[in-house]
Amino acid sequence: MANERTFSIIKPNAVKKNAIGDIINTFETSGLKIAGAKLAMISKEKCELFYAEHSARPFFGELVTFMTSGPVMLMCLTGENAVLKNREIMGATDPKKAAPGTIRAKHGDSMGENAVHGSDSVASAERELAIFFDRHELVNM
Ligand code: RTP
Ligand code: MG
Repeated sequence: MANERTFSIIKPNAVKKNAIGDIINTFETSGLKIAGAKLAMISKEKCELFYAEHSARPFFGELVTFMTSGPVMLMCLTGENAVLKNREIMGATDPKKAAPGTIRAKHGDSMGENAVHGSDSVASAERELAIFFDRHELVNM
């Protein structure tokens, strides 16, 4: 098992409904630790860079509009197998298909407004963290 770090976003729909505390509580009770966190509005430019792999998809414009529509909570989570563990805690992309008890089952509203983002690999996590955090904003846990 490897100690890893991953990148997490609490998306605008979940921030709007005051679910930040519940979501962070879920991460912490699952053994993940917070190594960096900030509430922010993200720019269209950073959002497009972040979601570059989806730029040709039909939902790209809608996705960027949603993700820049209100404040988000940007976080670095660390722990044993943090990347996969976070994906399991989040649940499936479509909240209707997410397993009971997962964050998306609880707080997701639709495929697009699915409450959280989590990196899909260690390499993605490093790329995504570098977009949204300066090195001094992350602590070693
Ligand atoms: P994420 O990157 O946000 O953690 O989600 P994911 O890996 O489970 O899903 P991914 O395929 O990477 O898609 C990124 C985000 O795009 C939105 N999406 N909308 N309307 C649609 O058909 C659709 N498909 C994907 C979702 O917000 C998804 O989280
Ligand atoms: Mg993804």
